Order: sequence, then structure tokens, then C-alpha cells
Amino acid sequence: MDYNISKRVIQIAPSGIRAFFDLVLGMKDVISLGVGEPDFVAPWHVREKAIDSLEQGFTSYTSNKGMPELRKQIVHSLKSRYNLKYDFEEEVLITVGVSEGLDLAARAILNPGDKVLVPEPIYVSYAPVVELAGGKAVLLKTDIDSGFKITPALVDKACKAGVKALMINYPCNPTGTSYTKEELMALAKVIKKNKLIVISDEVYDELTYDFQHTPLASLQGMKDHVVYLNGFSKSYAMTGFRIGWVCGPAEIVGAMTKIHQYTILCAPITGQIAAQEALKNSHHEVQQMKKEYKRRRNYIVAALNDIGLNCHMPEGAFYVFPSIKSTGETSMDFAQNLLKQQKVALVPGVAFGSSCEGYVRISYASSYDNLKEAILRIQNYLKR
Ligand SMILES: Cc1ncc(COP(=O)(O)O)c(C=O)c1O
Repeated sequence: MDYNISKRVIQIAPSGIRAFFDLVLGMKDVISLGVGEPDFVAPWHVREKAIDSLEQGFTSYTSNKGMPELRKQIVHSLKSRYNLKYDFEEEVLITVGVSEGLDLAARAILNPGDKVLVPEPIYVSYAPVVELAGGKAVLLKTDIDSGFKITPALVDKACKAGVKALMINYPCNPTGTSYTKEELMALAKVIKKNKLIVISDEVYDELTYDFQHTPLASLQGMKDHVVYLNGFSKSYAMTGFRIGWVCGPAEIVGAMTKIHQYTILCAPITGQIAAQEALKNSHHEVQQMKKEYKRRRNYIVAALNDIGLNCHMPEGAFYVFPSIKSTGETSMDFAQNLLKQQKVALVPGVAFGSSCEGYVRISYASSYDNLKEAILRIQNYLKR
């Protein structure tokens, strides 16, 4: 039978991360530095609240937009931390992770053929999400010499081709790169000049190590330009609860809510209840996890440079993106050979775009001891 699958879907390449990790399945004693999720579990009181809610019978749908209590808490938290004000009824939507927020944002704002700037290296779903929404991803390539940062000049130049939106993620997966307030203010100027809508994915915001994170939407005149995405997966170690949120202009959030209403209905109630507890009472645990990630970052960056792999110091998240160009191998060969010979799994750079050849992504969401052992094994591999 010819199913004549949608051409848009056929044109999308499967995720390079998944393809590589199919190789890891079934291998023993592998140190996996490939996964993009915390090695911590959600704080106990958050899990307890979720269990308690199930015992009390909270097993229903919620309002499409998400529980009002959670939306109010998010609004309160943004106001107290950043003096960033949103209306919980019109400008906030609870989503099934930031993943859903990315998809809804693209589908809500794009008409067929609309161009969207997508920095590279970037999280694997960005370009596919744009293309599935009928838009066209225009890649903004960056490299290690610029710390993998986009610049106002790069954005401005790309806008000459007529662009509707920019997707940005900071701290970034896969590079860990983030932006200071001053750097964001410089970007904000060209965003305003070119009347761009920005889909700003700040899911790693709490994991910023060397300076205070600044939401793009909190800068003067930027609130109307920004669809601000965030969630509980990374900073609170709550990936499985599947809770994210969107704050943005009412017209865009309203359009996103319309799609969400028909396709998702609502985010899971257990996750929404757990998220309220996380926002209320997890400050201490979040700080503890952050402290440990920072310790690991400092170790792994120094160790990689010591063994001859050029690695920039990332400002946040839990990834490093060292260059393996000195080995003369492609990133896929390097990753496959390292896995076979030394049983260390990391992600080849090409999974994050063709310009990322020559790099690999290492996640340090793994114990300090694992990281030390992995460095020894990588060193052995380089010596061969
Ligand atoms: C940059 C980025 N955005 C979004 C996601 C997905 O997050 P969520 O679990 O909230 O859907 C990830 C997960 O790895 C990510 O790295």
C-alpha cells in the first residue's frame, strides 16, 4: 500500500542524536555523556506532592491554558525576579514541555515560506519545527572563535533577505553558550530595527554560572517582540513531568492556545501540581544542582584542553562542545570509534547541523567520577 506520507515529513531528517544512540543500546559498561537530561531526580517534596495529588484523585483535565494557580505563580516569579509583567489570563500558556511551546510558536506565527533565522549549532528540533510549520529556516553559522555567539551584525545582514522571526536558545544546547545583558541589549537593537518576532527558549536559565541570566523579554521595548519559552525539565530535574510554559503578546499566546486546545487539550495535571511545588519550594535544590554542574564544567573544560581538545568555556546549561579537528576525523567517525574502542558515548557535532562538523557534544549531566573516567578513556583513544 502506498501511504503517500506528507512530503514535509519525508523531507525532515531523523534526529542525529537518536540515530547515534541506537548504536549505544545493548552495549555494556558504556559511560554515556550523550543524554541531554539531568542525572539528578526531581526534589523529593516535588515527587511527594505529585503522589499526594494522585492519592487525592486529581486525575482530570485542567483548563486548556493550564491551572490558574500555576500561571499566577509563574507571573509572580517573573515579576519578582526580573520586574517582567504578564497577565496570567491572556499572556501565559502551560505547555507539554518547551518542546510543545516551540512547535506552537512556529505554527502560530508562520505563513508558508516565512523565513526564520536559526543559529547553528542549535538544539536539534529548531529547523524541523520551522519546516514542519511551513516556514524556511535560514541558518546563522557560528564557531568556536566567537564562542558560538550570534552577533547583531550577523542578524542584521541576514535580515536583508526578508525575515519574520529569530529563534534563540541561551544558555544553549549544544554549546552551553549564553549572553550577557549587554550582549542581549545589542541584539535587541537589531531585533527592533528589523521588527523580528523572537522565539526565545530559556529552558536552561537557572543554569547560568558566571553572570545573572537576563530574559530577552525583560529588556526595554522587547516584550512585544518576544515569545518567551521556559519550563521545569532542566533546572528542576523534571523532564518526565513534561511541563513548560509560554509568556508573550496576547495575540500570539491566543493563537498558540487555539492550536494547543485542539491538539493537546492541556498539560498533564500531575505535572502541573508538581510544578507549583517546584516553583514554591525548590530554590535550595536548584542551587545545589547548579553548584555541582559548575564544579563539573570547570573540571571537564580544563581536562579537555589539557588532553589536546580545544574547548571553550561555556557560560551555562550542562554541555561542552570541544573541537576534535586536531584528530583529523569526522565527528561521526570520532564518536563511533571512541564508543567502540573506549566505551564512551558522546554526540557527533553533525547532529546539530552541517557546520558543526569537527566538534562533539559532551553532556556533563553525569557524575564527577564518570567524567574523570571518561577523560582517561578519551585520552587513551587520542594516544592510539
Ligand atoms: C534547548 C532545548 N529546548 C527544549 C528542550 C525540550 O525541553 P522540554 O523537556 O521542556 O520539552 C530541550 C531538551 O533537551 C533543549 O535542550
